[in-house]
Amino acid sequence: MPTLPPFGDRMPGMDLRGLEKTVRMAAVAVSRADDVLIVSHIDADGISAAAIAATVCERLDKDYDVLFFSKMGEDAIAAVNNSSRSLVWISDLGSGYLSQLSKDGIVITDHHVPDSSWRRGQTSLGEFNRVIHVNPHDHGYDGSSEISGAGVTYLVAKSIDPANTDLACLAVVGACGDMQDSGNGLSGINRTILEDAVYEGGLEVKEDVRLYGRETRPLIGFLQYGSDPEVPGLFNDQEACSAFYAGLGIPLKKGNRNRCWTDLSENERGAAAEALLERVKEKDRAKLVGETYVLTDFPKGTDRRDAKEFATLLNSCGRYDDAPTGMRICMGDEDAVEASKENRSAHKRNISGAIDLVKKNDLLKVRRFIQYFDAGGEIKDTVLGIVAGMLLSGDGAYRGLPIIAFADSDDGVKVSARAERGMAERGLNLSEVMKKAASMVGGFGGGHNVAAGATIPGDRKEEFLDIVEDLVSAQVI
Ligand code: C5P
Ligand code: C5P
Ligand code: ZN
Repeated sequence: MPTLPPFGDRMPGMDLRGLEKTVRMAAVAVSRADDVLIVSHIDADGISAAAIAATVCERLDKDYDVLFFSKMGEDAIAAVNNSSRSLVWISDLGSGYLSQLSKDGIVITDHHVPDSSWRRGQTSLGEFNRVIHVNPHDHGYDGSSEISGAGVTYLVAKSIDPANTDLACLAVVGACGDMQDSGNGLSGINRTILEDAVYEGGLEVKEDVRLYGRETRPLIGFLQYGSDPEVPGLFNDQEACSAFYAGLGIPLKKGNRNRCWTDLSENERGAAAEALLERVKEKDRAKLVGETYVLTDFPKGTDRRDAKEFATLLNSCGRYDDAPTGMRICMGDEDAVEASKENRSAHKRNISGAIDLVKKNDLLKVRRFIQYFDAGGEIKDTVLGIVAGMLLSGDGAYRGLPIIAFADSDDGVKVSARAERGMAERGLNLSEVMKKAASMVGGFGGGHNVAAGATIPGDRKEEFLDIVEDLVSAQVI
């Protein structure tokens, strides 16, 4: 193994030893367990995390089951507390709800902002043994940007057996699923994990245009819908995109087949990248061209070859009640890839339909410190956050305000909140806002500083918005 740098940069307050110690404790607990229940989140990060945990259990020859949940609600908490398995391994979930977990024998590998009341109440040694909580926030690292749920789960896998470093690429997919590569690539502990993945083979870091869909989007759509960053003059303008390629002599098709970005020759790609760089503002250049993560074991032109597209494939399963198919894909099951094809196209249709719905019906309402929309029963609660995030990064909302989205759900109203990362630098913490505001109206919530969510009673949306606006205005300077 090459000598790896410590997790991220060593900054004051970052307690690498403390993190390594809890990782080690979790590894011992998993290794000693008779049997395991894995409980994970339905999104790309949660599915990658579950696949890592399940692979570890298989390699240790342990009997295990996997359950997926969209949030740590009553059903998830009951499944954990009533489990007869000797160990429950919760990944990409759990930290925000620690005080409600009572089972003896829990390992949590998560990166959400932890439940502070649990840490304050945690006084006896017994409490420490009952729940082994591995979370970067407890050791001075930022769980929203430096490591994902799959990443924390991977650290435990690697501690159990260094041979598990072949799972590092799944942790990279998980981090991309949680948008931790936005800006100009993975950083912090994710960087160490990335180095493991590269060292293992199967993942290459390649400098390229970082817009979404390099492997599977037709060339026009790649520029027309690419919004992080948007290219002035091309974003949302099909004709201009077509003229852009024509001007460079780049054909859009090979025979009858649409070409995509990775079909371009090195020369074509270089010329197009340069022309794109000339169009964007100085501040967006590093975002536009930089690191991309190529999973080289998968064929060109498939979504599993690009870490971001792989993550979308997993979301297209998990957010539509089919997380086990996503997990099977991560574990190399080709039948699951075939079974997921319909999921992927349905997800694309749903997302673009949902964005159109908000735009065409002018659902977005703007207040002084926040903007919001209420999709009622028209957008599925599990994709509401993706839609809110895409509106914010595209042209569907104001970038400088947090966006709050509502959709009906089985147990009340689902809330998703998103904000640009720059707002977190100005003090915004949506996790805190969602947690406090939800509890003040009889609901619950949590998450990360720039991406959080909640479930609240259906008749308290207005009151909730007022509280959210007060909290946001107090946080942001
Ligand atoms: O529960 P978990 O941490 O996996 O979920 C985080 C969610 O927040 C993901 O769905 C991810 O896409 C979203 N996110 C976002 N923008 C960010 C960071 C995360 O939309 N900048
Ligand atoms: O569902 P959505 O993608 O909007 O969730 C964003 C973040 O908020 C995720 O990390 C999720 O785990 C968290 N969340 C939460 N409690 C809820 C709903 C979402 O902690 N009730
Ligand atoms: Zn996550």
